[in-house]
Amino acid sequence: MFCQLTDMKLSVVTVFVCIFCHINSSKILVITSMPSYSHFTLAFRLAKELADREHEVSFINPYPQKTPIKHLKDISIEEVKPFVAEVRKTFAALGEWGSIGSHLIDLRLSVGLIEHTFNSTNVQNLLNSEESFDVVVIEHFINEPLVGIAHHFKAPVIFLAPVASCFRNNYIFGNPGPSSYVPDILGIYTKHMNFWQRLKNFIMMSFHDLWRELVMIPKYRTLFKKYTKTDFELDDVLYNVSLILTTSHPSISDAVPHFPNIIEIGGYHVFPPKKLSEDLQDFLDTATEGVILFSMGSNLKSKDLTLNVRNAVLKSFAKIKVKVLWKFEDDLLEAPSNVKIMSWLPQQDVLAHPNIKCFITHGGLLSTIEAVYHGVPLIGIPVFGDQRSNVAAAVNSGYAVSVPLDELTEENFSAALSEILYNARYRNNVKQRSKIMHDQPLKPIDSAVYWIEHVIRHKGAVHLRSSGSDLKWYSRGMIDILTFLGFTILISTLVAYSILKACAKKLFLRKKKAKKSSSKIKKTGQPLK
Ligand SMILES: *[C@@H]1O[C@H](CO)[C@@H](O)[C@H](O)[C@H]1NC(C)=O
Repeated sequence: MFCQLTDMKLSVVTVFVCIFCHINSSKILVITSMPSYSHFTLAFRLAKELADREHEVSFINPYPQKTPIKHLKDISIEEVKPFVAEVRKTFAALGEWGSIGSHLIDLRLSVGLIEHTFNSTNVQNLLNSEESFDVVVIEHFINEPLVGIAHHFKAPVIFLAPVASCFRNNYIFGNPGPSSYVPDILGIYTKHMNFWQRLKNFIMMSFHDLWRELVMIPKYRTLFKKYTKTDFELDDVLYNVSLILTTSHPSISDAVPHFPNIIEIGGYHVFPPKKLSEDLQDFLDTATEGVILFSMGSNLKSKDLTLNVRNAVLKSFAKIKVKVLWKFEDDLLEAPSNVKIMSWLPQQDVLAHPNIKCFITHGGLLSTIEAVYHGVPLIGIPVFGDQRSNVAAAVNSGYAVSVPLDELTEENFSAALSEILYNARYRNNVKQRSKIMHDQPLKPIDSAVYWIEHVIRHKGAVHLRSSGSDLKWYSRGMIDILTFLGFTILISTLVAYSILKACAKKLFLRKKKAKKSSSKIKKTGQPLK
């Protein structure tokens, strides 16, 4: 009897534990389609964290793991790589065209990424399988029709934005981003704009909106229909996305409006520092004057720098005692003795070293966040995309000096170096920012996981959704109301004008008649009959 009872107890416990496991572990599909290190990093960090917390994660991405990770199943879409490499060749040429150029690149990139992702054998196999998911997290980068994959599995969608809330994602949630105080992320303005800057910002933002509504969205609608077997339209699914996680935070981004389903998790991608190689550790530890870290990221290779720029940089480095750690793919370089060149280095872990005095970067969002996270001031050499606005914001917040690539000379680069190294202002400001970034109720990565689980628990969390998503863009922007009012005022003015004119004419005629008759009286001396 006793024995039986323990057995029963045991099985109850087992059943209970199993139910408990089942409730806590969800099936999550994470998708990232752009073969670029920064996009991948963002999605991977999240997928890995979810897997570490024992969710069953399937991960559609272009860089499958070499050694498998527990609870994380790769679904490789390496097919997108050659296509994107081809498009990259046009980056520089179209880059010259400013915003129009970047929209043209986006269009071509977008269509190709979407088609290649849907056509990938592994994705097709997944779509034809019996799989099911509790939620689908999509790294949102000009790939709106991929919501069709989530729709196929009847799962709620969460977007993960590689940027802050901006014109690229606000429209989906109906979130306001007024051009009067929210600068265009592809521009160069900061949050304080004068009249002319606001005018230009308004024109640029309107151009982005029109381009999206008139060119991109119609294209997306066709692609959605082509690859998703459903009676629903793209709009039904896209404007129904549950939540967006943005790569932003008040410590690095402007304070702007956010609906409850827009969650800022900027800084979540930074891993706790890992042990450095002996060689690097030694180089950093022995640098009594400090070290400058110089890396232009993965999209722009250091070898793309012109000879003039390289020389200017090297001459400036030769003049200082501070050591320099330069991520450069070309080691044939005649560098001064204080400069160490490495074709690859663990950027986050190096930034965490207390001897790092300055980070010279292109100003990509992730690099900027990592610098603030570790409290390192910046010299920004912005090249394209959102780099200019990131650097402008960092300069405005007092922790960076900007030296645009096409203006870089030995003179201004040296000046920037001594400003950052010897003026304590930049370091103090970035330390302050860093403190703000770390002063949060939840760590950004915990917050990301919390909100993903919230969406799962509440089956799409429709309570977070604003009715702004139900309105067409022209209704949300009050364009229909203003047009109606404009027409009403115009028509009433016209009507009033014609009535007045008619009255005036009558009056005038009568007066004329009266005048005529009175003058006739004068001439003839007697009234007319
Ligand atoms: C919209 O989202 C809710 C919550 O996830 C879901 O129940 C509903 O089916 C979705 N509608 C469409 C058309 O996908």
